[in-house]
Amino acid sequence: MVEIEVDGRAVQALPGQDLLAACLAAGIYVPHLCAQPNLPAEGGCRMCTVEVDGEESPVQACEVTVAEGMVVRTRTARVEKIRNVALELMLAPHPKDCTSCAAYLNCELQALMQYTGVAHSRLREIEKETARIGSSDSIIAKEMFRCIQCTRCVRACDDLRGVGILQLNHADGEVYVGTAGDVPHSQTDCRFCSACVAVCPTGAIMDVPGLFRTDVPRTQALVPCQDSCPAHTDIPLYLQLAGQERYSDSVAVFREKLTFPHSLGFVCSHACESGCKRGKIDTPISIRAVKRFAVEQDPDQRWRERTSVAPATGRRVAVVGAGPAGLTGAYYLARKGHDVTVFERSAKPGGMLSYGIPRYRLPQEVVDAEVATLVEDAPFTIVTGTDVSQVAALREQFDAVLVATGAQAGRRPPEFAAGWPNAFDGVDLCHRWNDGTAPALGDVVNVLGGGNVAFDCARSVKKLGATTVRVLCLEPFSTMLADAEEGREALAEGIEILASVAVAPVVGDDGRVVALSVSDVVAFSFSSDGLHLDLVPGSERELALDSVIVATGQQSDLTPACGLELRPGNFVVVREAGATGVDGVFAAGDAVNGTSSVVGAIADARRATSAVDRYLGGDGDIEDTLFDREGHDPVLGTIPDFSGLARTDCRTAQAVTTETSRCLHCELRRDIDTAKYWTDPVFKAPVVAP
Ligand code: FES
Repeated sequence: MVEIEVDGRAVQALPGQDLLAACLAAGIYVPHLCAQPNLPAEGGCRMCTVEVDGEESPVQACEVTVAEGMVVRTRTARVEKIRNVALELMLAPHPKDCTSCAAYLNCELQALMQYTGVAHSRLREIEKETARIGSSDSIIAKEMFRCIQCTRCVRACDDLRGVGILQLNHADGEVYVGTAGDVPHSQTDCRFCSACVAVCPTGAIMDVPGLFRTDVPRTQALVPCQDSCPAHTDIPLYLQLAGQERYSDSVAVFREKLTFPHSLGFVCSHACESGCKRGKIDTPISIRAVKRFAVEQDPDQRWRERTSVAPATGRRVAVVGAGPAGLTGAYYLARKGHDVTVFERSAKPGGMLSYGIPRYRLPQEVVDAEVATLVEDAPFTIVTGTDVSQVAALREQFDAVLVATGAQAGRRPPEFAAGWPNAFDGVDLCHRWNDGTAPALGDVVNVLGGGNVAFDCARSVKKLGATTVRVLCLEPFSTMLADAEEGREALAEGIEILASVAVAPVVGDDGRVVALSVSDVVAFSFSSDGLHLDLVPGSERELALDSVIVATGQQSDLTPACGLELRPGNFVVVREAGATGVDGVFAAGDAVNGTSSVVGAIADARRATSAVDRYLGGDGDIEDTLFDREGHDPVLGTIPDFSGLARTDCRTAQAVTTETSRCLHCELRRDIDTAKYWTDPVFKAPVVAP
């Protein structure tokens, strides 16, 4: 270490460290603007001016390297005069509308004005002709009249990222920051990493408003794909590894959080893709398809060698339900050394993966292989064909119980509640198609509902030979709950979609539904007394049918006999981390939350599993590290026509590499240091007067 003295205080500095960094690290605030720890020093703003004994003139702390015995003064009259004049010169062309700037209260320039007491310039205001040059893009908002030419953005783009699309331009005798030719970033080699945004000390270069969530920690919000994934998988990393053809490493990364990566490669609701920031530029990265490709190129599954099972605890756990949530719970509890038995009503494990999703979307052998892998890696017992209705009573035989029975009962609107012989629940039909017991439905089948189950039913019926298949839903097409590709593919398969319609059954003399009465909807709303419809006058017509499938929602099929407190829909009421009102009985997944998604059920089961382990005396830690992080390379470099790269189908290694190269690498922004303000608590230590 190097010992120096700053304002009378002894400071230990690192050899080779610059004086500014040494002072800040020691809790001594020295003003600075153009300096930023991730960037090479520029030394232009003069805010960090200090006096060093033995130096005739004041120096810039960001440009001076510490030396043993150096004696430094940061607040002398000479220093403050230089600093204040430099700040006034900077403020002369700067707008005075701080309160209407998006960076208000997050502006390093504003904070320096408060620190120094320098108000807007005493100098004549300077109007810069070039101040309004600089167009915004879909994710980067520019107000270049707020630029102070500290060149942090230029250095971030050039030195940090190796992209170099920002530069100092010259026009009309003025210098300003811009792109070559002042074109938008989308017409340059910009990688849209937003490093320029992260380092800008003012409101000149900002994220467009609303780009990130504000209700979660900033580091989480900054990577929207990972934030949107219910399991918060490290998506940027596994995309990058897949793009490098390191498929086993890629699988290892998402297997750290997800128990059914291959199944999810087929059916994940891919909330991550909705969050993907590339979607704001053109289309999101095809994250689900990358995941599936990587799993299918990873026959050796080397990452499995890094999973281990703890010594036996002697504790016995019952899991009710062998769906994604139940099996996830069983796997992690077995890995924590507990003796786990899973009870499943159906003949096969897998829950909705085996029975709720049509085989054309998810092959059964994929599910079977993933279940086998879980049991092989962390042995637990699965008892199929066993219906446990009194789940709470299991607690008498086991040290803990995890209820993960899903939401496997159809929920019908009141007008379809009657049990007509040709009206079927969608979720029940899916189950019966998968176990081979489904009835014939006829040639004309109408499906009610706008979610994935409705489309699973419609597309299954069509593939089974029905001539006329219609999906009817209350919502407009654009806001249907089903994945957008479901709607597109259904239309391509010849299925009719009647969106924004209200339907009522027309029952024949034989007690069967013979038609649906359909009316177009202008608007609808729900209140405590039910559904309110505003219909298009005269739009009512009848659609004849052979059978109708009701896929308008699902609920839990638990009954009060289960011994747990239930809420409407027969969902289990839980307290913190899945704990029910019965000691030692926990619940997770759709049985608690209603139908969400496979990935949502897995994420919820992980939370509850951790709580079960703690209840049993464990530490609750179920986190895995199956891949050793190597640290991020901050340099992105350029990719030809980056903005124009179109989404690929990810069916070949080359396509996956191209697809993953479209990533904006939002995660790199987490590595950029946040601004240090003189008001930060770390700087509250008293500074000795000059
Ligand atoms: Fe050191 Fe600008 S000259 S921070």
